[in-house]
Amino acid sequence: VSKKIADLRSDTLTKPSEEMRRFMSEAVVGDDVYGEDPTVNSLEERVAELFGHEAALFCPTGSLANQLAIRMLVAPGEELLTETNSHIVRAELGAGAAFSGITTRTWLSPRGELKADDALNIAKPDSGPYLVSTKAIAVENTHNFGGGTIQSILEIKKLHQECQTLGISMHLDGARIWNAHIATGVALKEYGKYFDTLSVCLSKGLGAPIGSLMISTSDRISKARQWRKRYGGGMRQVGIMAAAGHYALENNLKLLKTDHVRAKAIAEAIASVAPSVIDPKTVETNIVGLDLSSMKITAFELAAQLKEHGILTGPLGSKYLRLVTHYDLDESDINLVKQVLPEVLKRALVA
Ligand SMILES: Cc1ncc(COP(=O)(O)O)c(C=O)c1O
Repeated sequence: VSKKIADLRSDTLTKPSEEMRRFMSEAVVGDDVYGEDPTVNSLEERVAELFGHEAALFCPTGSLANQLAIRMLVAPGEELLTETNSHIVRAELGAGAAFSGITTRTWLSPRGELKADDALNIAKPDSGPYLVSTKAIAVENTHNFGGGTIQSILEIKKLHQECQTLGISMHLDGARIWNAHIATGVALKEYGKYFDTLSVCLSKGLGAPIGSLMISTSDRISKARQWRKRYGGGMRQVGIMAAAGHYALENNLKLLKTDHVRAKAIAEAIASVAPSVIDPKTVETNIVGLDLSSMKITAFELAAQLKEHGILTGPLGSKYLRLVTHYDLDESDINLVKQVLPEVLKRALVA
């Protein structure tokens, strides 16, 4: 009998449920490069409508949706600003530079939390013939490497207002915008209002095996459609995957609340023995980021010890360990983490 594993490395690890698979198998499909896949078309319309935009484009990955979006806003040799630890600059392997000739400058903020002034302080639109001109600012909500941080709608609004005056566009990396929406109650349309382009993922907390969408005006989406094909992302009877997206929106969005409650409970259990490692107040969604800088143990050592107890976690730096809750975990997994992690940390404290 294989030992049960509690896998908290990422919310991308979820497997499609039986019911989702059944729903996918029954999808009506067509050739999406011809624009003839009804399930893709209806998903694109549905998601555009959810965010109050004209159109959307189904993409295999969030990285592609991000990259298509920023290339619609920033020309080669122009500049995108974003937070230092955002996915778009850290985890997309320089795609903006490699594919679109986009230069990037970043600002650093604790937990990736957006303060409009941090972005505005480094923004330089219309910089003339000597300096690079800022064309767009990207915001990540929730912020992944920041620990699932929710961005304040007031800061987003303020940034939007200033960007309108400065002629700077705004992009939202909303891979986990669903988590922000569920945690705050802020409407998806309200988030949609402040951004020229958005990317959203169905393959993170929502549990679809594949699928992200770029969202914007019809004009930008038809241009992005050409670039998607150029990049080799024109897919055929991909309604099978879009059906998983429909299923996820219908059934899994509401489940995120449980992920958030569980993440908070894990943080509280840890803080009760090692308060310097995590402040539960900062755990706003489904990500628990442990800061081990005050401890001797490294993230890799801690992850290895937890693995012996059947718990998988993500050491993303020598002193940063990430745990992510998602719907493939059950109550016994969470109880195991709540029991084992504090014990292991307690031992590390006295070692
Ligand atoms: C914030 C954020 N944006 C974009 C992506 C990219 O998604 P994908 O892995 O589908 O390319 C991720 C992936 O984890 C992410 O966390």
